[in-house]
Amino acid sequence: MHFEVWTKGLATLAVDCIVVGIFEEGELSGEAQSIDSASSGRLKKLLSRGDFPGRAGETLLLPDLPGIQASRVLLTGLGSKKNFARKSWRKAWSAAITAIGRTRIASVAVAIDRPDSKELDDYYFGRAIAEIAGTAMYRVNDLKTAKKPKAPAVQRILAGPVRKGGIEDAERGLEHGAAVAAAQKVQRDLANLPGNVCTPTYLADQAKAIAKRHTSLKVTVLDEPAIRREKMGCLLAVSQGSAEPPRFIVLEYRGGKAETPPVVLVGKGVTFDTGGISLKDPPTMDEMKFDMSGAAAVLATLNLAAELKLPLRVIGLVAAVENMPDGKAVKPGDIATSASGQTVEILNTDAEGRLILADALHYARRFNPAAVVDIATLTGACVIALGHHHSGVMGNDDGLVRELVDAGVRADDRTWQLPVTEEYAEQLKSNFADFANVGGREGGAITAAAFLGKFTQGLKWAHLDVAGIAYQGGAQKGSTGRPTPLLADFLIQRAG
Ligand code: BES
Ligand code: MN
Ligand code: ZN
Repeated sequence: MHFEVWTKGLATLAVDCIVVGIFEEGELSGEAQSIDSASSGRLKKLLSRGDFPGRAGETLLLPDLPGIQASRVLLTGLGSKKNFARKSWRKAWSAAITAIGRTRIASVAVAIDRPDSKELDDYYFGRAIAEIAGTAMYRVNDLKTAKKPKAPAVQRILAGPVRKGGIEDAERGLEHGAAVAAAQKVQRDLANLPGNVCTPTYLADQAKAIAKRHTSLKVTVLDEPAIRREKMGCLLAVSQGSAEPPRFIVLEYRGGKAETPPVVLVGKGVTFDTGGISLKDPPTMDEMKFDMSGAAAVLATLNLAAELKLPLRVIGLVAAVENMPDGKAVKPGDIATSASGQTVEILNTDAEGRLILADALHYARRFNPAAVVDIATLTGACVIALGHHHSGVMGNDDGLVRELVDAGVRADDRTWQLPVTEEYAEQLKSNFADFANVGGREGGAITAAAFLGKFTQGLKWAHLDVAGIAYQGGAQKGSTGRPTPLLADFLIQRAG
């Protein structure tokens, strides 16, 4: 997909479609006005007949308006003018590009009215145009044998309106947005794969494939003997019930000076989570193929850092395992020794994410990191607390947590802080080991973070629990590509 900015002569642009926004109040503003006068009042006529109410999310395609070079004009509803903000603008563009994706339109000029620049500046305007187009054009790589519907035809998107002084910012936004969309596709393609295809070995092979595409990326994959040499007893305990061997992936991006302290991103890569001996209930168990979404987001974000040549050092760590019940599987009450030397009583084998992350977070220490952020579909409790809108962010460094919250707001991929104060760790007491891997139902998202906190002392660390936002269930089942936009914004901001 090719993106650029248009600046003038909307009615004379030679594209297949121009998109303009219409408010519920029916009055035409800005760009719609120019289309209306060039077409001798066609839009006003249509609105006065009440044929397009301008509700957010609705669209209407008008072919061959006289006086307009483009062969079609698409109206998209902006909702009421009083409440016009970034959210309604995003919804309008998303509805428009989704509708366009079902047609044979190949080139589009966007001319939707914009909220004021405090809501959406030129850079984030460009980013949102490209990101939303990427999301709308995404098609699941399915294994259906019936004839596939044609892929969307859109090749070229011209973005506007942009004020003269804002062209460069908007262009940079489009470039970054295209990279974010590409990264989200990497995440979604990996996460949507079934567990019998996307195994720990497959994830490691994909990391190698990503590293091959960029000379700035270097990959190292630890196999089971190497993982054993690292004494990752918690990771191995989770993996021991599976016929699939574990992998520990180290993907390094060198954009900054070799000696600068890196940002380390750590991803939970449970390629399928049955719960193990603490077996999960059957309904929606298939969705546990998405339990490697954190890992997929890490690989996707490293790909983005390389694509945008960010002046940073970033290291991606992925702990990849499958959690299965088996004669050899770890049992409730078993005690594992983590790479840090601390012992853990595994009271529930379904609390496996924190076990593999414990060893991965410990591994991060050797890089003397500036910041460590782990990304994990860690707890159902986080979904109960925050639903499917915000991810949960926790950590031991309020500055880092704040950075992530702010990145989430800017990227429209929001996260909300939960308090990991000392009391929560008390719920992890064990009679037989240094601590247990579960702390009861109360505050479950936070006790999981408190567990991770045992392995991150002295590091600047934050944890994103993405269980509620990384994928959707139900009729729209599939990976969302979140929190890659947040992570991208976090790194772009750090790059300055
Ligand atoms: N992968 C799950 C968490 C999860 C649940 C993700 C629902 C997405 C949707 C994780 O491994 C898990 O099973 N957590 C347990 C922890 C409990 C045993 C303390 C949970 O949330 O039930
Ligand atoms: Mn589990
Ligand atoms: Zn899990």
